[in-house]
Parts: sequence; C-alpha cells; structure tokens
Amino acid sequence: MTENFPASAETVRITPCVKWAGGKGQILGEIERRMPKDFKNYFEPFIGGGSVLFFLRPFSAFINDANPQLVNLYRQIQSDPEKVISAVNALDKEGCNLDFYLKNREEYNRRITENILDCATASLFIWLNKHCFNGLYRVNGKGLFNVPYNNRSAGSSIDEENIRAMGKYLKKVDIACMDFEEAVKNARQGDFVYCDSPYLPESPTANFASYAKGGFSSEDHRRLSKVFKELDGKGVKVMLSNNDVEDVYKLYNGYRIESFEVRRMINREGNKRRGREVIVTNYDY
Ligand SMILES: C[S@@+](CC[C@H](N)C(=O)[O-])C[C@H]1O[C@@H](n2cnc3c(N)ncnc32)[C@H](O)[C@@H]1O
Repeated sequence: MTENFPASAETVRITPCVKWAGGKGQILGEIERRMPKDFKNYFEPFIGGGSVLFFLRPFSAFINDANPQLVNLYRQIQSDPEKVISAVNALDKEGCNLDFYLKNREEYNRRITENILDCATASLFIWLNKHCFNGLYRVNGKGLFNVPYNNRSAGSSIDEENIRAMGKYLKKVDIACMDFEEAVKNARQGDFVYCDSPYLPESPTANFASYAKGGFSSEDHRRLSKVFKELDGKGVKVMLSNNDVEDVYKLYNGYRIESFEVRRMINREGNKRRGREVIVTNYDY
C-alpha cells in the first residue's frame, strides 16, 4: 500500500451516486495498474461522477468540476447527507410519470437560472439523473437541463448507505468549482493529478460533450496539454484519460501513452460497442 492510496482513508466501498457520461467505472482496473507508487496530495480537476476518487479514497484530496450543480451535489452530501437522503426520498414518494418529471425538470431549470445551489437542487439533480433518458446529464446552449423522461417510475433514486459513506469521506475533501487550469495551480512536487476531461471526438464529425454550458473545445484540449507539461515541469505526477485518436499522440508527444479496448456504453442507440482509449502518464509504473 502506498502513502495516499488505495482505500486508505475508509474501508467501506463507495460508488458514484449519479450516472455520468465518461464515467470511469469500467476502466478502474486500467487506472489502478498505472497509478504512481506513492504520492502526497490527490487532485482531480474534472470530477464528474467521481468513480476514480471514490475508488481510491485518498486521505488528502482536492476535487473540482466546472458544473456548479454537480459541485453543489457533492457539497450538500459533504455538509448534510441525511438532509439529501430525506429530500430525495420525498421526491420518490410521489411516484413518477411524465407530468411529474417535466414539473421537476422545470423547477430544476428555474434553480439553474436563479443560481440556487442548495439541498433541494441537489436532490432534484439525483432524482432527475435516475429518471432521465439513459441517465445522462446534458445541457443546452443556455445551460438548461434538457434530457427527456426515461418512462420508468419504480425504484429508489438513492442508495442511503452509499450516500452516508460518501458524506463521511467527503468531509475531508476540498471541493471547488472553477476552470481546471486554476484547480491544479496548487499541485506541488510529489502530488498526483488525474485528468479526465471531456474527450476529443472519436471522429472529426462526432460532437463534443456538453456536460456544462460552453462545452470543451479543441483549444481547451491544447490548454490542457500545456497544463500537463507545466505540472510535469513542477515534478507533479500526472495521469490523463482520452480517446485513442491521433491528436492525443500529438498533444502528449514524448509521454507514456498506452491504449486499450473499452466497451462504449452510451451512444445514440443506447447499446454497447467497442472503442479504444488511452492513458497518458509522465511517470513510470
Ligand atoms: C469525462 S467527465 C469526468 C468523468 C469522471 N471521471 C467520472 O468517472 O464520472 C468530464 C467532466 O469535466 C467537466 N468540465 C468540463 N469543462 C471543464 C473545465 N473547463 N474545467 C473543469 N471541469 C470541466 C464536466 O462538467 C464533466 O463533469
């Protein structure tokens, strides 16, 4: 076992509480095998559903995402998991049909527009994630959540024990909502940064992911590779995930790049197919 890894802070298993496009659940083994042997502080500037963080559960962690509603979710779970559980259970009690879904989505979007970041917004976030099509989080150009209803009503939207364990673990985690470049400014020699940005498109015609207003452009990818190199220069250990596409080899030329096969869970037809991803590192493992 290393200084800050793995599962050293809590022994109980924690899993993501929302489904998130690009979730790393199925490649945790690939990530684990390429982890640095030891590190001081852990930084994850694109936290998303948090599958890597909750798998590793490092003692000292700084997490970040540009999506304010997602960050609010983690902050609410951090400060009062019981309150979040009660609020989601209250929504579940109502059952669900298309009208109720649309009413909740409208209320959630009102809260986005008015920038209301509280427990009610966090519980709607979880509830909508469970009842929307494919469990996807997608926003339109105005930043409003626009995913349709999945036509399923039954079941609980929350695993209470998981939220309790998550709340306990998050108590010692710093949670920020800013651009990734700012979020890794404090990383120092011996720290470890895992970057899982929205991916480069698999093909030139594929769309960029829109988890947050503004998306992630090719200029952002250039900026990210610059940040990777700056961190490397400071003696920070960096790992980065992306699609196995030509641009990655150009952007990260000179670093260790390993490619492997993955099952793609989310596509227009909602079925599975195969693709390839890479993990880039600036250290040996
Ligand atoms: C691929 S997802 C991360 C998936 C995550 N590893 C998981 O397992 O669920 C990318 C995340 O980057 C966030 N993001 C997009 N642009 C960003 C930026 N400029 N700075 C920080 N985060 C950003 C998105 O909101 C999204 O949650």
